[in-house]
Amino acid sequence: MTKIRIAIQKSGRLNEDSLSMLKDCGISIDNGKDQLKANARNFPLEVFYLRNGDIPQYLRDGVVDIAIIGENVLIEKGEDIDVVEKLGFSKCKVSLAVPKAMKYGSINDFEGKRIATSYPNTVRNYLNEKGVKAELHIINGSVEIAPNIGLADAICDIVSSGSTLFKNNLKEVEVMLKSEAVLAVSPKISEERKKILKKIQFRIKSVLQARQ
Ligand code: PRP
Ligand code: MG
Repeated sequence: MTKIRIAIQKSGRLNEDSLSMLKDCGISIDNGKDQLKANARNFPLEVFYLRNGDIPQYLRDGVVDIAIIGENVLIEKGEDIDVVEKLGFSKCKVSLAVPKAMKYGSINDFEGKRIATSYPNTVRNYLNEKGVKAELHIINGSVEIAPNIGLADAICDIVSSGSTLFKNNLKEVEVMLKSEAVLAVSPKISEERKKILKKIQFRIKSVLQARQ
């Protein structure tokens, strides 16, 4: 039997909400802990637990057919990947932040500054649009510590509750984009699997309606 292959985040904020979405869709997954792959018991679906940042490439290659992923990751690494549903959870912003003590006037204040980020493409595009030149330092996590250790003058990262910024004495000064979890589709998905996708989309729509 043909199964649709879905990628979801292995661990982190999206993981739990993605699994509850599938559950609310009536899809129950055999969840052996530490398994990177699992099957649904009552639906032709296979789950792959992957790192967020790797998911766009898996979709592009057609190794997975669909994914639940943050829009922000697609904007950074997968602008070529189609989104078929917005899922209404894991809402966040991708923002620029500076030390609280810094006087901030406008985006021009970033000229010549060093910005630490895990979202280099997003920041570069944003600054290019504004005609601002800055130096990017790409790091993969704990970005907010960078100004405190002298690695950078500012940061660009995800802001959800704002508590990480607060704890690190930073303030949000520019919101570059707003994001939420979405259902994304591989450009290589087969016709047969598209039919399974349609069923999932139908269920997602009713879940979203019920959640309102
Ligand atoms: C994420 C993100 C921000 C923080 C935002 O980091 O990179 O740092 O959450 O959430 P908040 O506004 O609610 O504080 P995470 O904790 O996932 O760790 P990482 O950056 O080391 O991957
Ligand atoms: Mg972080």
